Amino acid sequence: MYNITNVTEDIIYLGGNDRRIALFESAFPVPRGVSYNSYLLRDEKTVLFDTVDSAVSDLFFENLEAALDGRTLDILVIHHMEPDHSATVFRLIEKFPEVRIAASQKTAQMLQNYFPLTGKNVQIVKEGDTMSAGKRSVCFIAAPMVHWPEVMMSYIPEEGVLFSADAFGTFGALGGSIFADEVFFERDYLDDARRYYFNIVGKYGIQVQNVLKKAGKLDIKIICPLHGPVWRKDLGMLLAKYDTWSKYEPEERGAAVFYASVYGHTANAAEIVATELAKKGVPVKIYDVSHTHVSVLLSEAFRYSHLVFCSTTYNNGIFISMENFIADLKAHFFQSRRYAVVENGSWSPQAGALMEKEFSEMKNMHEVGAKVTVLSSVKEETRAALIALADAVADDLNAQ
Ligand code: FEO
Repeated sequence: MYNITNVTEDIIYLGGNDRRIALFESAFPVPRGVSYNSYLLRDEKTVLFDTVDSAVSDLFFENLEAALDGRTLDILVIHHMEPDHSATVFRLIEKFPEVRIAASQKTAQMLQNYFPLTGKNVQIVKEGDTMSAGKRSVCFIAAPMVHWPEVMMSYIPEEGVLFSADAFGTFGALGGSIFADEVFFERDYLDDARRYYFNIVGKYGIQVQNVLKKAGKLDIKIICPLHGPVWRKDLGMLLAKYDTWSKYEPEERGAAVFYASVYGHTANAAEIVATELAKKGVPVKIYDVSHTHVSVLLSEAFRYSHLVFCSTTYNNGIFISMENFIADLKAHFFQSRRYAVVENGSWSPQAGALMEKEFSEMKNMHEVGAKVTVLSSVKEETRAALIALADAVADDLNAQ
């Protein structure tokens, strides 16, 4: 049975939630599920903004039928061809063979790749183009690499509604209300929104900055993303977060300590550093990188100003989970942080130098304090070195 909500009088939310999915994109745990959002504008023409993932397609078609209320579908706007939003396009065309598809040139190419025989319906639109729906118009905004190269956003100036594609979305299914101002967003969604941003589009900070500049020229009253709640209040908070995140600036002054430990000695060293940081009043978090999913580690690394990486040496290299974490940081253009290093080794400690090499290849990374080497287990002199390292991190943080 259909389940729809009005965003405005003539814009209707048609999306659905998947709470059984384990890994979004087969990569990111989503214990609280995810929503796939789609919206219908009912004007003189009916305009659908994106479809949904196949997981919620049956509900979507019931929602669409209810929202159309006997009318046909005139226009489909495709902002993004990733299948979590376009999987149902072909079924939609079978149902509405005359529907006109508004899409960027790249989307049109991708559409052919995914669904042969859909080309005849496509009207290519580009940045600055406007399409009339009757009383309202739909203006198109190019948003390449937020998150794929073909991505567009669209804007209804008469209502101040921005359809933002993946931008401003979050992991986490919707529960009842579809509006951010009707949930405890900062308590219940912000961590997932940050994790979503850095893992999905975090690599493309420059492109996100470009879109924010374009958005700054619009009178936006409502943001309708493709995942998570719709925004109609406190847009400044969300836009400010995106501005900070996309500039690669830390969101919080504080330290995150990450460790990879086999028998607990490197964990012990990391705990000592974290404890000493806390004693000095530094907000600190600590993560076992072999236990916490790398998507969380990535998000937390981008969140804090100071990072401490502690790894045992393994196969003459960095321990596997830490190596994987650092590779993921590198893949997401991680940069502009202050960091410290602790290594462990029982006969040939070298994880520290290898981690320093990785960070030296990232942009604007500065090492703080002297690298600490643990030989198998922490002794009094090593403990003193760890405390000195914590002092250096705390002093550096307070000097920023
Ligand atoms: Fe939600 Fe890039 O797709």
